[in-house]
Amino acid sequence: MSRLPFPVLVLLSLSLAYSSVYLLPGYLNPPPPVPSLSIVKSANHAYGAALAGNNSGINGGDRGGDEPVAVFVGGTSGIGRAMAESFAHHTKGRGRMVLVGRNERTAHAILSSTSSSSNAKNQFIPCDLANSTSLSLCIDALSTLPKINYLILTPGYFSLHPHSDAIPSSKDRQVDSKLMVHYYARWKLIHDLASLLEGATALGEDGKVLTVSRPGWGGRANLYDLGLNRTYGAIAASLQMPTYNDFMIESFALLHPSLTFINAYPGFVRTPLLSSSPTLRELSSYPFPVPALAASLVALAEVMTYPLSRSAEECAEWMWRGVWSSSRASNGKYGENVKGYFPSYVAEKIVDVSGKVKEKHVSHKTGSAGIEGAFRLGAYGEDLGSQRSFGTEDARRMVWEHTESVMSA
Ligand SMILES: NC(=O)c1ccc[n+]([C@@H]2O[C@H](COP(=O)([O-])OP(=O)(O)OC[C@H]3O[C@@H](n4cnc5c(N)ncnc54)[C@H](OP(=O)(O)O)[C@@H]3O)[C@@H](O)[C@H]2O)c1
Repeated sequence: MSRLPFPVLVLLSLSLAYSSVYLLPGYLNPPPPVPSLSIVKSANHAYGAALAGNNSGINGGDRGGDEPVAVFVGGTSGIGRAMAESFAHHTKGRGRMVLVGRNERTAHAILSSTSSSSNAKNQFIPCDLANSTSLSLCIDALSTLPKINYLILTPGYFSLHPHSDAIPSSKDRQVDSKLMVHYYARWKLIHDLASLLEGATALGEDGKVLTVSRPGWGGRANLYDLGLNRTYGAIAASLQMPTYNDFMIESFALLHPSLTFINAYPGFVRTPLLSSSPTLRELSSYPFPVPALAASLVALAEVMTYPLSRSAEECAEWMWRGVWSSSRASNGKYGENVKGYFPSYVAEKIVDVSGKVKEKHVSHKTGSAGIEGAFRLGAYGEDLGSQRSFGTEDARRMVWEHTESVMSA
């Protein structure tokens, strides 16, 4: 039997892996009962206006009129970019935005496209998260901010590369760059910037972290190979990263009692994630017709999956719903007075006196999976509770200690 040429094999595996990682969850997860998008936009607008100082403040803080500060790591494209633009819109340009990423040109284009009414202090901080020196410089630059209200972490890329694209950390330990971008760098940013988030909560304001991964679609952490040095693969990474991100928000929530940590699944979103994939880019160096074939397949995939996907702008509204409605202290302000708004509910299994298992809808206001301040959210900003959560205390501690040792190296 003749073997398939390498580029065709890559394209086939790329489509298979992409659809199983990003599309399947959408198919299997029916939408939960949520308010309509237009109601959510109104709720976001009302909350953003209050943040911008039109109202008496958020969370009962007496300094509610202060400009809110939001840092968007991965804010140069896709979900992060749309969340930044939505933030500028809802706060009427009065919120302060910091975009972090590698693409300086796009960052400046985003900042200038919102510039007419925008905060003059908006800025871009260049950073390659896969490079520990660049990450440290970026954290130094971010540390000069007066406070941070929202740390939005959406960096990522789609690749089928084996662990070979690993970069050596200073301890000579191999840290894969994809894992670095999707987890380790996010952990480090939260770790080093938590005091600025606490600075915001000390003023009675929001201090929240959103990490976008795929909660509810992860796997059990492989505690025998933390960091996947021996078992790395695209599928292994896509199963472990959501779980590491779950552990991350839970551990930080336990450590920082005034902050709110959220791990959210964004749904299947139309962004450059696939078209800018390093694996796909590699195919462009192959002779004709491989690059043309690859580009046509991506275009075809985008057209065929269009009805199942959502725009980054729509996703951003749901993500802000998740951020603004999840809080340790139920502030009750988000969605208040917005006609038709109702909060997120999660089905909880209860056993009645006769031993029958029933489902009861409860609202989780203070955290999911039993940890106050840590929220796992779905594509509509709804609470996932402990659905496919693997957060045992031992596993969480082991992943934390492993991460600390990697990142302090
Ligand atoms: N789109 C979906 O359907 C979907 C579904 C589930 C989960 N997700 C996850 O959501 C996140 C955002 O995805 P997206 O669709 O918005 O992707 P995207 O449009 O490709 O944006 C990715 C962002 O990550 C940044 N980034 C990538 N590598 C980086 C590096 N080494 N250093 C610094 N920044 C880096 C990029 O900035 P620069 O290029 O400027 O560096 C860009 O801003 C990803 O983690 C993705 O896995 C997406």
